[in-house]
Amino acid sequence: MGKALCIILILLISLNCAFSWKKDEFRNCNQTPFCKRARSRKPGACSLIATDVSISDGDLVAKLVPKETNQENDENQEKPPEKPLVLTISAYQDGVMRLKIDEDQSLGPRKKRFEVPDVIVPEFLNKKLWLQRVKEENNDDGSGISSVVYLSDGYEGVIRHDPFEVSVRESGKNGKKVLSLNSNGLFDFEQLREKKEENEDWTENFKSHTDSRPYGPQSISFDVSFYDADFVYGIPEHATSLALKPTRGPGVEDSEPYRLFNLDVFEYIHDSPFGLYGSIPFMISHGKSRGSSGFFWLNAAEMQIDVLGHGWNDESVLMLPSDQKRVDTLWMSEAGVVDTFFFVGPGPKDVVRQYTTVTGAPALPQLFATAYHQCRWNYRDEEDVFNVDSKFDEHDIPYDVLWLDIEHTDGKKYFTWDRVLFPNPEDMQKKLAAKGRHMVTIVDPHIKRDESYYIHKEASQKGHYVKDATGKDFDGWCWPGSSSYLDMVNPEIRSWWADKFSLENYVGSTSSLYIWNDMNEPSVFNGPEVSMPRDALHHGDVEHRELHNAYGYYFHMATADGLLKRGEGKDRPFVLSRAFFPGSQRFGAVWTGDNIAEWEHLRVSVPMILTLGLTGISFSGADVGGFFGNPDTELLVRWYQLGAYYPFFRAHAHHDTKRREPWLFGERKTELIREAIHIRYMLLPYFYTLFREANSSGIPVARPLWMEFPADEKVFSNDEAFMVGNSLLVQGIYTQGAKHVSVYLPGDESWYDMKTGTAYKGGVTHKLEVSDDNIPSFQRAGTIIPRKDRFRRSSTQMENDPYTLVIALNSSKAAEGELYVDDGKSFEFQKGAYIHRRFTFSNGKLTSSNMAPATDAHNRYAPDCTVERIILLGLSPQPKNALIEPSNHKVDVESGPLLLRKGMAPSVLTIRKPNVRIADDWTIQIL
Ligand code: GLC
Repeated sequence: MGKALCIILILLISLNCAFSWKKDEFRNCNQTPFCKRARSRKPGACSLIATDVSISDGDLVAKLVPKETNQENDENQEKPPEKPLVLTISAYQDGVMRLKIDEDQSLGPRKKRFEVPDVIVPEFLNKKLWLQRVKEENNDDGSGISSVVYLSDGYEGVIRHDPFEVSVRESGKNGKKVLSLNSNGLFDFEQLREKKEENEDWTENFKSHTDSRPYGPQSISFDVSFYDADFVYGIPEHATSLALKPTRGPGVEDSEPYRLFNLDVFEYIHDSPFGLYGSIPFMISHGKSRGSSGFFWLNAAEMQIDVLGHGWNDESVLMLPSDQKRVDTLWMSEAGVVDTFFFVGPGPKDVVRQYTTVTGAPALPQLFATAYHQCRWNYRDEEDVFNVDSKFDEHDIPYDVLWLDIEHTDGKKYFTWDRVLFPNPEDMQKKLAAKGRHMVTIVDPHIKRDESYYIHKEASQKGHYVKDATGKDFDGWCWPGSSSYLDMVNPEIRSWWADKFSLENYVGSTSSLYIWNDMNEPSVFNGPEVSMPRDALHHGDVEHRELHNAYGYYFHMATADGLLKRGEGKDRPFVLSRAFFPGSQRFGAVWTGDNIAEWEHLRVSVPMILTLGLTGISFSGADVGGFFGNPDTELLVRWYQLGAYYPFFRAHAHHDTKRREPWLFGERKTELIREAIHIRYMLLPYFYTLFREANSSGIPVARPLWMEFPADEKVFSNDEAFMVGNSLLVQGIYTQGAKHVSVYLPGDESWYDMKTGTAYKGGVTHKLEVSDDNIPSFQRAGTIIPRKDRFRRSSTQMENDPYTLVIALNSSKAAEGELYVDDGKSFEFQKGAYIHRRFTFSNGKLTSSNMAPATDAHNRYAPDCTVERIILLGLSPQPKNALIEPSNHKVDVESGPLLLRKGMAPSVLTIRKPNVRIADDWTIQIL
């Protein structure tokens, strides 16, 4: 072979391998016996019927028993379970129904199947409604009877007896179904049993790993149907589209189900149902005719979920005459119990709110955490840290947090410092803190097995590690080499861990230091699928298989608790986690892990973040710039322009990549990145108001368009554009050298270009010219956005800055918006120490009124900030001045730019220096 050809070949091979997902390291459904079995079941295979339906302790209870049929003649029927199952339905306020199915514990001693503790918040349990009465009705199709209970808000829970099916419907015999379980007869529950025959082999092998499976098969699967649904969404984490594509059915070949199994996937690909770092078994449907509904299965074992395309079960029994549009899904889990929640909606925001009443509201972050974060694996030493820090100032780029990755430690022993590279960590943090900046260090769950390491010594002495199947401390390979893993499901160990974050225990830390939890899937380099063996043992003899997906959740919980304890409960913690589970929103932020510096990864970051938001995790982001590889400058700039709208905005890069701090690419690029970051800082008051909204209602900061425009079918599968709150629409640019972009602006009202103020019609797709200096972003007519426009070094230094209000008028020349402000740091807001203003503009008058209930604490929080500028979009003809009340003074109205230093649009008017206090009631009348 010629030399040149050789070189070309080598180049081609290396290009191909540059980013390659190691597919073979991970199991697919066919290599996963429970998944393969469940997937091969035929509709109608379930032979269970409901009997003994009654009310007990305010719940509806029933037994599920096999129907006595001539099984041998029916291939579809499988061996019935030996014992009856117990089914319980409970109702909660605000349209939530809970359905549990488990083995009957009264039938003698056996291992208790695992139920995930500490996810359902106690307040939810207090919302239980006591069911009083169950009525029976005949099924229309002559198939026997159903038992019906009234839930709340005009919905009923229905159990059809034979074959058993559970559904929620609108009240009344002919009420429309909203959600149902087992309508396709795919329910299966493998009960725990003793090994009968000696030669029965329960072990499972994958690659070189053997899973002893001491309790044998114990999987659960069932179908769930969403009625009047056009699409289903949710069940993160996958790098795939927002609207979930069918994984089975006509036209779908060889597709895998969506896998929920927390995994450290090296170089994940951007369009795949493959499981990534976190798992939330919560799905939300949406359709034009009814709206949304949701289904959540609280289960921490491996799960696989099929979305069944229309016509998937053509050749088989249709269990229900279907006159409604619906989406069928199949849920399969390796272990645990059925503990499921049905959410009736009917709006998308209702479903998310209902879900977060079960799993908890997203924590309100400190203000600094909502600003820009600068990270890299690794900032080498203190000098590097100071250098980066001062360059931000030199280049007039604000940032709030500088991060230190694993190399800052002494040999990957967390809570220690490499004292050569970081001799004075406290001074270093204090120097940054003097500019209002914070630092974050990484703390992972694998503990180096090194006798001289205090954490290891204590943990091994106290028996705090997860055990392997033989009962010894599990020993796996991670960053530090041989490591053990703390058993975070045990509350005592969590509390012990939390104490490690006190300023006393974490030597070299200060109160401006916060934490990053990584590798908490958990990642075990030499374990099966880069994780912990499923037969490893946790507290209470719980097998790892039963709680795998919640491991990282408990670690995140314990770390957040540590920061809380450190500040004696005064300061809000900030902990970023890679792994997550339902409820993680209560502990901090999540990011989408090790993405790649490629355009397609920029694109997929949007559906990934939107999906997280739909499932409660509002505070999320993707590594800006892409973790692996070197982005070209155009991609990097586009990533900053988009990332500035991520709820969590952090740049990060792998240690093998070239340095890419914002000022390294020439003056023009620095300017563009500065501008992108600056936009985020201007919008911080708006973002913070949205974080508070998420904290009180679960509604995410970044929203799919259909959440704001639920009746507009055109946006149901749009995941290239998204809303920040209800007022801003952002469209990413996902291709290199783009000259034009098509943007669909939903609704009947106009949209104003955020940069120029130019108005665009709603309900239309606009083909827009693209420039390098921003991505298309629009303010919705009828909204008011609060901003702070002054350039500062960090968010903390903006505290006393005056506000700008941007009023975008709708066709009735009206608009409204909100502003929430508190001290940005403490929990005093929970006692009412905040201001919450409503701004309304109508009949030429802007009114600021109080939305907060009057409390003493409210009076204690009264910032002195004023409003320095009011920008009006869509007002003509131009008024001359404006009258401010109650001070009764007049100010001028002029034309002005929307963004400082940017082009003017004729219809942008500015009321300069009204100087009203943000916390006060006032009006401004345009004259
Ligand atoms: C993991 C993380 C990445 C981090 C690296 C080193 O790959 O996902 O963000 O930089 O570990 O700690």
